[in-house]
Parts: sequence; structure tokens; C-alpha cells
Amino acid sequence: MDREPLDRNSILDAMRYLTHGVYVLGTRRGRQSNAMTAAWVMQVSERPPSVAVAVRDDRYSRDMVLESGTFGLSVLRDDQVNVATHFSETSGEYDDKLLGVPYGLTPGGSPFLLDCLAYLDCRVMDTARAGDHTVIIGEVTAGDTLNDSFPLIFDPTEYEEALR
Ligand SMILES: Cc1cc2nc3c(=O)[nH]c(=O)nc-3n(C[C@H](O)[C@H](O)[C@H](O)COP(=O)(O)O)c2cc1C
Repeated sequence: MDREPLDRNSILDAMRYLTHGVYVLGTRRGRQSNAMTAAWVMQVSERPPSVAVAVRDDRYSRDMVLESGTFGLSVLRDDQVNVATHFSETSGEYDDKLLGVPYGLTPGGSPFLLDCLAYLDCRVMDTARAGDHTVIIGEVTAGDTLNDSFPLIFDPTEYEEALR
């Protein structure tokens, strides 16, 4: 092999084969709502049902989640790449990304998309530092399936502009 396997690009190339779904993480602090696209999401416990999401430290959503102690996850359908793009293109610091988007509030008060496959309502249980991200662990306190369809699987080639 002529490539050095410890090279950062080799590592990142290999990590592109990890599989993820695509979600919209919604949060609310006081009267302000915001939402961002998140793919680094996984289930981490069954009792209590819990998930973890890695949020980069400079995301506007991060402090909103940590201060409110709650967040919602809307599971996107396989035809909603445009929705994932919308919630990743700008920051809630400058734009109201939920303006004109039909959404509801979970029992915990977080925004979720009315047009999605399913949503989870989460209460922050714990956090962990992971390099430039904060891993936020949330107990899932409510959830509902809105649609009988297939989840969107993360394909980096569909977001080349947004992820550049
Ligand atoms: C498909 C996709 C998945 C993403 N997943 C994550 C993620 O898991 N964690 C993260 O911090 N940013 C992720 N992003 C980037 C954020 O969605 C983006 O930076 C967003 O504008 C942050 O919004 P905010 O500043 O309003 O919080 C993803 C972007 C795309 C296109």
C-alpha cells in the first residue's frame, strides 16, 4: 500500500463509511426556537431509552440545548434531503430557520417538524467532551411516529455544498 494509513485524510475517508440517519434537532430557550440538521445521532440505552448527539461547539443550537436541558429530534424521511439542507445552510444566530415551516412543540417544549417520519422528545441526562464536539446524551421522554415511510440515510455526496 502506498498510502500512510495514519494520515488524517485516510482516517476521514475510512470514517465516511460509518452509517448515519439524518435528523433535525430542535430546541427552545425561553421564547426562541431553533433547529439544525444532525447526523451524528445514535441510541445509547434501552432503559431508560436514550440517545446521544454530537453537536460541534460553535453551533448556535449547542448552548440552547445545554441551557434549556431539552431537545427534540425529528427523523427525516428518505425524500427530505431538501429539509436537511435547509436546516444546515444557515445558523439560528442570524436566521429564523423555522419561519414558514410547520412545526409543533413536544411535551418538553422543543420544536419538531410536523412533516417527518417520527420525533423524539429528549431531556439532557449528561454530556461528554469529544474534541471539537459536545456529546449530548438525552433520555427520550416522549416520541411518536407520524408517517409510514423510510428514514433518510446520510450520504455525504448529497450535501457537498453544506458540508464544505
Ligand atoms: C447532513 C448534515 C448533517 C449534519 N450533522 C451535524 C451533526 O451531527 N452535528 C453538528 O454539530 N453539525 C451537523 N451538521 C451541521 C449543522 O447542521 C449546521 O452547521 C447548522 O447550520 C447549525 O445550525 P445552528 O448554528 O443554528 O445550530 C450537519 C449538516 C448536514 C448537512
